[in-house]
Amino acid sequence: MENALQVMDLSLKINGNTILDNISFTIHKGELCLLCGRNGAGKSQLLRTIKGLRKADQGTILLRETEADEKTRMKKIALVFQNAEMQIVSQSVEKDIAFGPENMGLGREEVQRRVQTALSLIGLEDKAKQRPQTLSGGELRKCAIAGILAMEPEVILLDEPFANLDYPSTLTVIKSLLSLREKGYSILVVSHEAEKFIALTDTLFIMDKGQIKEKGASSDLFSKLPEYDIYLPKNAVFKDLTWLKH
Ligand SMILES: Nc1ncnc2c1ncn2[C@@H]1O[C@H](COP(=O)(O)OP(=O)(O)OP(=O)(O)O)[C@@H](O)[C@H]1O
Ligand SMILES: [Mg+2]
Repeated sequence: MENALQVMDLSLKINGNTILDNISFTIHKGELCLLCGRNGAGKSQLLRTIKGLRKADQGTILLRETEADEKTRMKKIALVFQNAEMQIVSQSVEKDIAFGPENMGLGREEVQRRVQTALSLIGLEDKAKQRPQTLSGGELRKCAIAGILAMEPEVILLDEPFANLDYPSTLTVIKSLLSLREKGYSILVVSHEAEKFIALTDTLFIMDKGQIKEKGASSDLFSKLPEYDIYLPKNAVFKDLTWLKH
């Protein structure tokens, strides 16, 4: 399997406190990964550091086997913040999605092509002309993800993409993520709502106190979750979702 993102010996201190402690892991092309861990474990800081918003004190990050500095990572790695939809200010969904590629200095035709591709990947074609303020919560989250896709990133990081979404909206976002995986995008999702999503992921990372404590095939790590206060309910919520795999 081709390596999309390799994080090697990454460490970060803030005000003398160790926030990330010698973190190493790999995400392969087309892999959908879940990162779990308690509040304050360092998940958001890890995403910000990988993206290049923070400079690590130590470590190397490779994109497709090539070392990538912060500037390169800012371009090639997309990060969808927890409240990404708060940043949507444009007059229409399509204008909002065009904003990123326009800022990259791309020509009109290329911007249009990317907007159409992103809209169809995320399933928002019928909302293209709608004002973002009138979208539902789930549609807004999808609009934020589409805006990221239009920049054609190599790796997509999402911080709590299901926060504040109801079950149908969560499903629409999950379906979008699955179709992105099919298209070969490499995706890392940070989520507390493991039960909604874990059965559909390839790889699981569990973080605690700034370290990656567990990593492996998601299905092999189910039994480890309670050690980190992550409990999967015995009801049908997460079993029900497995049909989405097909
Ligand atoms: N600017 C800062 N100064 C000091 N400490 C910070 C700063 N930013 C983050 N931290 C600390 O880094 C640790 C990791 O924070 P982070 O936001 O990555 O946690 P998290 O795993 O995303 O938690 P949550 O699940 O609550 O979102 C926390 O203990 C936090 O207090
Ligand atoms: Mg966080």
